[in-house]
Amino acid sequence: MAPLFFLLLFSQIFLCTAVDTINSTAPLSGTQKIVSKGGRFALGFYTPPQGNNTASGTGNYYIAIWYNNIPLQTTVWTANSDLPVSDPTTASLAIGSDGNLVLLDQSKNRQLWSTNISVASSSTVAVIQDGGSLDLMDATNSSIVYWRSIDHPTNTWLPGGKLGLNKTTGVSQRLVPWRNNANPSPGLFSLELDPNGTTQYFIQWNDSITYWTSGPWNGNIFSLVPEMTAGYNYNFRFINNVSESYFIYSMKDDSIISRFTIDVNGQIKQWTWVPASENWILFWSQPRTQCEVYGLCGAYGSCNLNVLPFCNCIKGFSQKFQSDWDLQDFTGGCKRNVPLQCQTNSSSAQTQPDKFYSMVSVRLPDNAQSAVAASSQACQVACLNNCACNAYTYNSSGCFVWHGDLINLQDQYNGNGGGTLFLRLAASELPDSKKSKKVIIGAVVGGVAAALIILAIVLFIVFQKCRRDRTLRISKTTGGALIAFRYSDLQHVTSNFSEKLGGGAFGTVFKGKLPDSTAIAVKRLDGLSQGEKQFRAEVSTIGTIQHVNLVRLLGFCSEGSRRLLVYEYMPKGSLELQLFHGETTALNWAIRYQIALGTARGLNYLHEKCRDCIIHCDVKPDNILLDESFVPKVSDFGLAKLLGRDFSRVLTTMRGTRGYLAPEWISGVPITPKADVFSYGMMLFELISGRRNADLGEEGKSSFFPTLAVNKLQEGDVQTLLDPRLNGDASADELTKACKVACWCIQDDENARPTMGQVVQILEGFLDVNMPPVPRSLKVLNESPDVINFFSDVSSSQTSQMHNSTASSQTKSSTSGGSQFQSS
Ligand SMILES: *[C@@H]1O[C@H](CO)[C@@H](O)[C@H](O)[C@H]1NC(C)=O
Ligand SMILES: *[C@@H]1O[C@H](CO)[C@@H](O)[C@H](O)[C@H]1NC(C)=O
Ligand SMILES: *[C@@H]1O[C@H](CO)[C@@H](O)[C@H](O)[C@H]1NC(C)=O
Ligand SMILES: *[C@@H]1O[C@H](CO)[C@@H](O)[C@H](O)[C@H]1NC(C)=O
Ligand SMILES: *[C@@H]1O[C@H](CO)[C@@H](O)[C@H](O)[C@H]1NC(C)=O
Ligand SMILES: *[C@@H]1O[C@H](CO)[C@@H](O)[C@H](O)[C@H]1NC(C)=O
Ligand SMILES: *[C@@H]1O[C@H](CO)[C@@H](O)[C@H](O)[C@H]1NC(C)=O
Ligand SMILES: *[C@@H]1O[C@H](CO)[C@@H](O)[C@H](O)[C@H]1NC(C)=O
Ligand SMILES: *[C@@H]1O[C@H](CO)[C@@H](O)[C@H](O)[C@H]1NC(C)=O
Ligand SMILES: *[C@@H]1O[C@H](CO)[C@@H](O)[C@H](O)[C@H]1NC(C)=O
Repeated sequence: MAPLFFLLLFSQIFLCTAVDTINSTAPLSGTQKIVSKGGRFALGFYTPPQGNNTASGTGNYYIAIWYNNIPLQTTVWTANSDLPVSDPTTASLAIGSDGNLVLLDQSKNRQLWSTNISVASSSTVAVIQDGGSLDLMDATNSSIVYWRSIDHPTNTWLPGGKLGLNKTTGVSQRLVPWRNNANPSPGLFSLELDPNGTTQYFIQWNDSITYWTSGPWNGNIFSLVPEMTAGYNYNFRFINNVSESYFIYSMKDDSIISRFTIDVNGQIKQWTWVPASENWILFWSQPRTQCEVYGLCGAYGSCNLNVLPFCNCIKGFSQKFQSDWDLQDFTGGCKRNVPLQCQTNSSSAQTQPDKFYSMVSVRLPDNAQSAVAASSQACQVACLNNCACNAYTYNSSGCFVWHGDLINLQDQYNGNGGGTLFLRLAASELPDSKKSKKVIIGAVVGGVAAALIILAIVLFIVFQKCRRDRTLRISKTTGGALIAFRYSDLQHVTSNFSEKLGGGAFGTVFKGKLPDSTAIAVKRLDGLSQGEKQFRAEVSTIGTIQHVNLVRLLGFCSEGSRRLLVYEYMPKGSLELQLFHGETTALNWAIRYQIALGTARGLNYLHEKCRDCIIHCDVKPDNILLDESFVPKVSDFGLAKLLGRDFSRVLTTMRGTRGYLAPEWISGVPITPKADVFSYGMMLFELISGRRNADLGEEGKSSFFPTLAVNKLQEGDVQTLLDPRLNGDASADELTKACKVACWCIQDDENARPTMGQVVQILEGFLDVNMPPVPRSLKVLNESPDVINFFSDVSSSQTSQMHNSTASSQTKSSTSGGSQFQSS
């Protein structure tokens, strides 16, 4: 009897503490909350931490849904975004007489919010579901659902939520950010499906200007979001038929907590909760850089990627709403400090005419108007003569003036639509102009001189190239600039392959010198079973991939069974050479950090920016080459595809490579770009420590450096990890960042690793990085030091096992991967 009684009592208590329903007799008020059955989500009154709260408990309160099972209160939906409640004890969320769910402010006797639908039955209940939706349903039959909060998203898109368009009504689901971090009312940006019926999503400013698009759905992914294939643990589905079209996603593993948001500053972001670090980790965001968000800094504001916070007012202007700027909402923009002469009523005798301030290398504002003027001077006059004119520019397309607000400016900008803007300011804003005139003249003279020098260099290069082409009697060229060398020519320029630069599993590299004395590196590939046609096709693809952090392929040779690749020559050799050979090192910390960043950029380019995604597969210090100023260049990319199956066989058995291989190579799952991220992380540790990860420690016992690093990182003692040759001479901040990045990169779960693009952003300082968890395999390593053998050497039986699994994994990834990573 007694146990049953307790059981009943217990269930009674359980029910009382975990109510998930609002019914007609139990409204919600004050500090009450309802919690979903599985305890994942809660709903109640919420006040933003940065809001205007008083000690007496009044402030701005909103009905909100938040995660109930994580320590950081994170909302996913808000109801009364525009009309906050000042005191939740006098407000209630209740079932109204018409069956709608309503929010009432009793103190003002006012309805603040309502589900506002027509309900057939007057007996309804509102239930918070484990998926994060608040559902208004029939009280007696829960399969009749009248309204779901997940169909009315605010700034968060949850798994299971639709983001789309009802084609009958034309109503769409949109994500709209909060105004600022303290105010959930709708901001200026929005993400939604194209209302015109194409299958692409847009992010827009003020419902008018599109600054990002996903590209249309191609059946598998959105064409401009190739990252979608990178296996982020999601199931995606895009539905498009006559009645509706929408995009929906779910988590493959339900225990992973993930959400998409559009943030105050107009970027969409995908976050995943990482329990080990008790924080949200950013996995993906678009547009890629903050300044691509249109109008981010408001009128007369200018975006600058190199200065935080990204926005500033341009010269002669100051923030219109200081408090908004403090809360990271810049869209209010800036106002003029001193009115222009024509805007004041004083007689012109008393004030000087307006002047122009030149802003060089800016992204020119939107809404330029073309004006008729034959010179820069005439253009300036055209602007001066119109009181509405705020700025002008004069470029090779002619004269352009701006009437009205200047919007979408960016500083330190050299891309398309950039130039020099002449900003009109009251004379008192600018000091006497005599000096600056001299500077301008100087700049013009300097500019002309520079142009002449550049012209001379270009002519020289063209001339050289012609000469070289002639002397080598080039037989054929394929794929644009690639040179098809004759074997005899290469024999000649390398003095019959006499000067060996290095050797690897895939071939030997020799130094050569072209007749114009350009140094080259010639790689003689071994054991290539490919036909000539396929080889040429692959090589010409590799030849189109050019980036400052990638070694450039200059040409190739394919004669009979001979296959050679010709690269630019890197005078400082490989990172491996610079890092591990010799008592002293030329690589100070600044250079090492640049190498880390440059390598990340190069890999990011391979993964995301080229037409076909390229997984390097063999990232290690030997494959990072350095030019004369130690700019890193990734080499040997594209070989994985060129060599096919042989590649993974050689790779996994080769000494000196295995330490960088991601666990997926061994487990046999398809290889994704995250495998490179892992190798990069391993390499980054070596860049920090100046020694090989698996080297014996000082005490002669094996110490795996990443394990040591992870522990020291958690103790906050990263300085001891630094290469002793640097005598502690390194930026503590950069060192910590590098250690954290490295540790994130070597997580066992590839989904926990950042993308190369994120690594770049972190190292550049545009993305924060949290304390990484200890990778699971390192924990194992800690406990049983024998396992370390995996990283230095593997017994033969294990090795042969690896062949099979990785060979098959490579096939998998090259068959599916090939089409998956096509970007259009
Ligand atoms: C409303 O909910 C409360 C507590 O959840 C419950 O005690 C009450 O019986 C419910 N009322 C109706 C009409 O279902
Ligand atoms: C409720 O919906 C009607 C039409 O469907 C609309 O006119 C009205 O403004 C809405 N009321 C609120 C409070 O949203
Ligand atoms: C609940 O509603 C659904 C849909 O209207 C209906 O098919 C079902 O029979 C109802 N169940 C009960 C128990 O009334
Ligand atoms: C579109 O909206 C109408 C009106 O709310 C609704 O009846 C219909 O079921 C919706 N269509 C789809 C496909 O959801
Ligand atoms: C906070 O109070 C200030 C001054 O009263 C007001 O300007 C601002 O809008 C308030 N902020 C919020 C988030 O309500
Ligand atoms: C939708 O179509 C209209 C008319 O064709 C066009 O003016 C508008 O710009 C289009 N909207 C978008 C977002 O493409
Ligand atoms: C947004 O557009 C509306 C009209 O569509 C306009 O009145 C408003 O000024 C615009 N907002 C900004 C910040 O330009
Ligand atoms: C459209 O697709 C949805 C989801 O697959 C489906 O429920 C609905 O019946 C479809 N409508 C039409 C008209 O095909
Ligand atoms: C200029 O003066 C006129 C009349 O004196 C007045 O009507 C007008 O409002 C003034 N304008 C400004 C910008 O002060
Ligand atoms: C000149 O400036 C205008 C106004 O921003 C721009 O539209 C045009 O593309 C520029 N022309 C060149 C050649 O940069």
